[in-house]
Amino acid sequence: MINSNLLALLEQNALLFDSSIHGLYHWQTVERNGLYLAKFTGADVKVVSYFAYFHDCMRENEHDDPKHGARGSQYAKEHKQLLDLTDEQLAMLCHACSGHTYGRQSACATVSTCWDADRLDLGRVGIVPDSRYLFSDEAKRIADEQDFEILISYEETI
Ligand SMILES: [Fe+2]
Repeated sequence: MINSNLLALLEQNALLFDSSIHGLYHWQTVERNGLYLAKFTGADVKVVSYFAYFHDCMRENEHDDPKHGARGSQYAKEHKQLLDLTDEQLAMLCHACSGHTYGRQSACATVSTCWDADRLDLGRVGIVPDSRYLFSDEAKRIADEQDFEILISYEETI
């Protein structure tokens, strides 16, 4: 959960803040997915939460914007004084943001948990998440068994 100052800044700066596809609603869903998966992967939950709010915040459109991840990473760096992160955590956050669209592999459990959390929300645009593009066992299980209900019920506990 990010603080209200940061949320207000994102509301000012994110063009698609109100979008149901790439805006706040999606970010909150990615955070929920990531916090759930972190129980299985041991991911750093602070990085997972910040990733959720930064990874798409610099999108300029809903469609073709291949550099948006890199811009999100840059934006996070520019506002690092507002983030409760060490340099090492900030580096993970930036790697997770810049690689989230095309990332195929990461040795870092936190980075791959971030990517899984985002990809498990593909149902919002009519794409069924495919376990071949997911990393953790639990994310793959959710996709293979179509068990998205477990993420929804987790929401009630956070
Ligand atoms: Fe996303």
